[in-house]
Formats: sequence, structure tokens, C-alpha cells
Amino acid sequence: MSPLTFPELIFGTTITRSQQETFDLSYAIGRALELPRIFFLEGNLGAGKTVFAKGLICGLGQPDPDDIPSPSFTLINEYLLRFKVFHVDLYRLETVQDLQSLDLEEILAEPAVIIVEWAQKLGNKELEDVILVKIEDLGGDNRKIEIQPLRTGRGSQSGNAPLEL
Ligand SMILES: Nc1ncnc2c1ncn2[C@@H]1O[C@H](COP(=O)(O)OP(=O)(O)O)[C@@H](O)[C@H]1O
Ligand SMILES: [Mg+2]
Repeated sequence: MSPLTFPELIFGTTITRSQQETFDLSYAIGRALELPRIFFLEGNLGAGKTVFAKGLICGLGQPDPDDIPSPSFTLINEYLLRFKVFHVDLYRLETVQDLQSLDLEEILAEPAVIIVEWAQKLGNKELEDVILVKIEDLGGDNRKIEIQPLRTGRGSQSGNAPLEL
């Protein structure tokens, strides 16, 4: 597979102190992205995954963040921007059948930027070059955002039983 080219620059931990700061962080990543990448966004409800996704999508060329509906119900929204972009939200996904009906395997194989909220539901997927974004609510408007390469073969995280594909 292709070597990691750009993302080393973005790996690390940042504390943001407002929704705008989170948006600005992911916007800058979207602007700098030179190759399609898969982003797994993990964090509890209200952590800021959708805010982060919106910044990324705007950084990739979507003019107005208000034109980015949450895919909580549709599960997947698609954009044609600087790259093809899939914004996926697995929050409502409950069964392996639901997961299979999404054709996520096909989407993950596309040369597209794929942003997956609640990626912890995917469990141990053998994927190369995934960027893992973990967002933790530190109270108030403070969020810890850790961006790192996904280690494949990782175990499930507490309280989030993965659905195996
Ligand atoms: N530093 C921050 N970064 C992101 N969102 C924040 C921050 N501080 C407060 N918020 C608020 O937290 C909520 C995050 O919501 P959302 O992005 O939909 O969460 P998730 O998709 O993880 O469930 C929003 O209401 C946002 O205004
Ligand atoms: Mg969300």
C-alpha cells in the first residue's frame, strides 16, 4: 500500500476550547489533504465528531457548513468536492445486517475521503492508512482531540461492542 505521505504532520493531540477551534483544526486538515484518506472519528455523543467532520468537508471544498446535514438518519451522505467524500454515521447501526446493507466495504475501497463517525462500531477492520481521530469531552467547551494512525487488530473499546463485518 502507499506509504503515509502527509498525515505525520497532523498526528498529535490538541485541546480545543470551542466548536470553532475544532472546526478550524479539521478545516486545515481538509485544506492540506493531498490524497484521499479514511478518517475514523471516535468519541461519545456530543463529543464533536460532526463538528470535526464539517470542518474537514468544508476544507475539502464545501462552501457552507450549514449545507452539511448530519448523516444520523441517512447513515451516508456523499459530496463531490476536491475529492469524492463520504460522510458516514454509524450511530444508529444496531445489527450486522444493517452494516452489510450499507455496502461499506465497497465505499471503503473507493478512492475517496471517507469520514466515519462512531467508527468504534466497526471493530477490528484490516484497513491500511486510516487516520484515527479520538475526541474526548473534557467538560465545558474543552475537547481533547487525538489524531493518530489506526493500529489494525486493536481490541474493542469499553462500552462499544464492535460489529464485525
Ligand atoms: N471544543 C469543541 N469542539 C467541538 N464541539 C464543541 C466544542 N465545545 C462545545 N461543543 C459543542 O459540542 C457539540 C458537539 O456536537 P456534535 O459534533 O454533533 O457531536 P457528535 O457528532 O460527536 O455526537 C456541539 O453542540 C458543539 O457546539
Ligand atoms: Mg455526530
